Amino acid sequence: MASNNSHEKVETNIGLLIILVILVVSVGGLVQIVPLFFMNSTTQPVEGLKPYEALRLEGRDIYVREGCYVCHSQMIRPFRAETERYGHYSVAGEYVYDRPFQWGSKRTGPDLQRVGGRYSDEWHRVHLINPRDVVPESIMPGYPWLAETPLSTDLIQTKMRTLKEQLGHPYSDQEIEDAPKALEGKTELDAVIAYLQGLGTQIKTRR
Ligand code: HEC
Repeated sequence: MASNNSHEKVETNIGLLIILVILVVSVGGLVQIVPLFFMNSTTQPVEGLKPYEALRLEGRDIYVREGCYVCHSQMIRPFRAETERYGHYSVAGEYVYDRPFQWGSKRTGPDLQRVGGRYSDEWHRVHLINPRDVVPESIMPGYPWLAETPLSTDLIQTKMRTLKEQLGHPYSDQEIEDAPKALEGKTELDAVIAYLQGLGTQIKTRR
């Protein structure tokens, strides 16, 4: 039956349909996304959150370099099964100094968002050198070279200055000045452990 209503015109004209769909999706997208830039809960750091101090900042870069994110997420979803296992679900304000964030998309190993303080430094040391020494069934690779590689102090001040000047991380001049000293005599393993021990410790609700 012939009809000349406008809906039919749209449905039978693929070019027009594509343009209108793009328009609708764009407007809908903007309505969802734009307010997030102005909401305090998504842009302000959670209470007590500080930018990574020198040793942890280096540890984080090693975490990225070694690809730990390939097997570990840092994003606890607000589901009971997750909060029972890992602790409080993740909130946006925890990630404001994570550039880029390490949410990850695959959990071959457990989520690490709240691993800070769960084990001793010594446990991490043994585990990172050879996971099977503490978790016999583990399939995580060992990272023994981290223990033998002295931490480089070459770039730390540049990194901190860049984060401060380009992205507004509140480092003081004194912190930047003292950074290389804080790394002296440390290994890459020390840095990764310091990074892990600080993860997710602003929000403490683990039983
Ligand atoms: C091939 C996948 C894989 C990679 C890559 C990997 N892990 Fe793991 N990780 C695992 C698995 C599986 C477990 C659980 C068994 C265990 O504890 O060893 C685990 C456990 C852990 C745990 C203990 C977590 C908990 O809550 O018990 C920590 C901490 C950890 N990994 C850190 C790291 C770091 C740091 C790196 C990078 C240097 C890394 N992992 C790379 C697979 C991986």
